[in-house]
Amino acid sequence: MIFDTHAHYDDEQYDADRDELLSQMRDFGISNIVNVGANLESSKRSVELSHKYDFIYSAVGVHPSDCEELNEERLESIREMSRDERCVAIGEIGLDYHWPEPAPELQKKWFVRQLDLARSEHKPVIIHSRDAAEDTVRILKEQRAGEIGGVVHCFSYSAEVALECVKLGFYIGVGGVLTFKNGRKMKEVVKRVPMDRIILETDCPYLAPHPHRGERNSSKYLPFVVEAMAQIREISAEEVISITERNARTMYRV
Ligand code: NI
Repeated sequence: MIFDTHAHYDDEQYDADRDELLSQMRDFGISNIVNVGANLESSKRSVELSHKYDFIYSAVGVHPSDCEELNEERLESIREMSRDERCVAIGEIGLDYHWPEPAPELQKKWFVRQLDLARSEHKPVIIHSRDAAEDTVRILKEQRAGEIGGVVHCFSYSAEVALECVKLGFYIGVGGVLTFKNGRKMKEVVKRVPMDRIILETDCPYLAPHPHRGERNSSKYLPFVVEAMAQIREISAEEVISITERNARTMYRV
């Protein structure tokens, strides 16, 4: 069955039908979902969701765009939440230089501090990296983050950068962008990254695959991504599902 390694079902876009939607996931062929935090509040909600549904796990962490909310005390709250029995990773953490704020120096500081936290709590990391390939790879190398392990989620860089991340010990997270008409770069990544290093994700409610692009996304649309991947790799949809599920279980240790 399909393992959705990255979702945000705590988002208010699901307020009207969250329970109804999540109760249908097994019928859509979804075995497990990791609900990922982006700040203190959503991390808390992720832990709550993981206790409400036995197929949902949580990840807790602060997104680079929200890192201004962090201080030592709040970092310790993240640590405490990460010790929850259903929490499988620290994330999403990383660097996002798409917008001028928060300042890169602040983003780097809290990225490194949360990598340290993941290392000491023995959890893999979920990395968000946008317009910051060089600094991300450099920090992962400097911090020997391969020993921590994890995924560069919603991968948006070239195949060369992807292979560098794989060499460092990371998985590559692939979602709806693979089905976009302008998704050529992502198709090249999926062609060249070894199959045992690719995992599936929605990043829902964002990035719904074609032909649902622009709509609210959910795990039930992952078969469109599976189909695109199967075509590129010239293997069956069943193989894509079983390989990526095994990869996800290895990475999250579940
Ligand atoms: Ni996300």
